[in-house]
Amino acid sequence: MGKKGNVAIITGASSGMGREFAIQIAQFYPSIQEFWIIARRKERLEELQEKLLGRRVKILALDLGRQEDIDALKQTLEEEKPHVRILVNAAGFGMIGRVGKMQEKDCTGMVDINCRALTAVTHIVLPYITKKGQIIQMASSAAFMPQPGFAVYAASKSYVLSFSRALGCELKGRDISVTAVCPGPVKTEFFDIAETYEAVRLYKKLTMAKADKVVYQALVDAKHGRSVSVYGPLMKGFRVLAKFLPADFMMMFVH
Ligand SMILES: NC(=O)c1ccc[n+]([C@@H]2O[C@H](COP(=O)([O-])OP(=O)(O)OC[C@H]3O[C@@H](n4cnc5c(N)ncnc54)[C@H](OP(=O)(O)O)[C@@H]3O)[C@@H](O)[C@H]2O)c1
Repeated sequence: MGKKGNVAIITGASSGMGREFAIQIAQFYPSIQEFWIIARRKERLEELQEKLLGRRVKILALDLGRQEDIDALKQTLEEEKPHVRILVNAAGFGMIGRVGKMQEKDCTGMVDINCRALTAVTHIVLPYITKKGQIIQMASSAAFMPQPGFAVYAASKSYVLSFSRALGCELKGRDISVTAVCPGPVKTEFFDIAETYEAVRLYKKLTMAKADKVVYQALVDAKHGRSVSVYGPLMKGFRVLAKFLPADFMMMFVH
């Protein structure tokens, strides 16, 4: 089969920000002809398909924690050879709690999805990304400093931020931008899983942003080729503090 034109591939499209990316990309990028939407919950992806009227939609119900499913995506890419204009890696999860109080599979699961799957999807989609293409990676403001009580998640997002910035530098010659999106707390289903062991802190509850606003800002930043997207003055301020104050002090303060 020949190459397909103008495709957006979005992981984590069944809820929250991934879903919102699909809706807003459909709204603001009329040139995108086809969406590949990825997550485990097929029925949610089918619901999203109804919102992407007039576009071709490929539903890929994949568990990105399974190598077989990553291989299946790779095979689909090899068969279809899409022209990918936008890749959004939004699949991810976090669990609040001390490392020693959590199950090992939950700790390593965050690394598997947030880091390993994101790297694998980026790697296998990369050959199909066109000139002026955009890669949007969901990191988090948790990437800005180590977070006791959210240690694995914060470390996994530091990986995403570091990986994305270096990749963006590598891809300058190919005219592909990479944007790491680093919001603070955002009101999504994320917290259904995040609170498995411990409740979210009150200050985070009080500062939750709306998913549509975070995603809109991310799309604007990606369009301008910015390497990092931070929504809102609070998180912008937090980023500056985390850059200039010693990590030990910041951890003591946040903890
Ligand atoms: N909400 C926040 O406060 C916040 C803040 C900063 C950054 N982030 C990051 O933003 C991204 C999106 O989060 P969200 O807030 O939109 O959360 P969400 O509503 O819980 O969405 C997470 C998405 O990831 C998918 N996913 C999880 N595990 C998967 C797996 N094994 N295979 C395939 N897909 C998987 C889920 O789909 P299925 O369950 O259907 O598989 C879902 O579509 C995440 O990377 C998160 O870490 C969130």
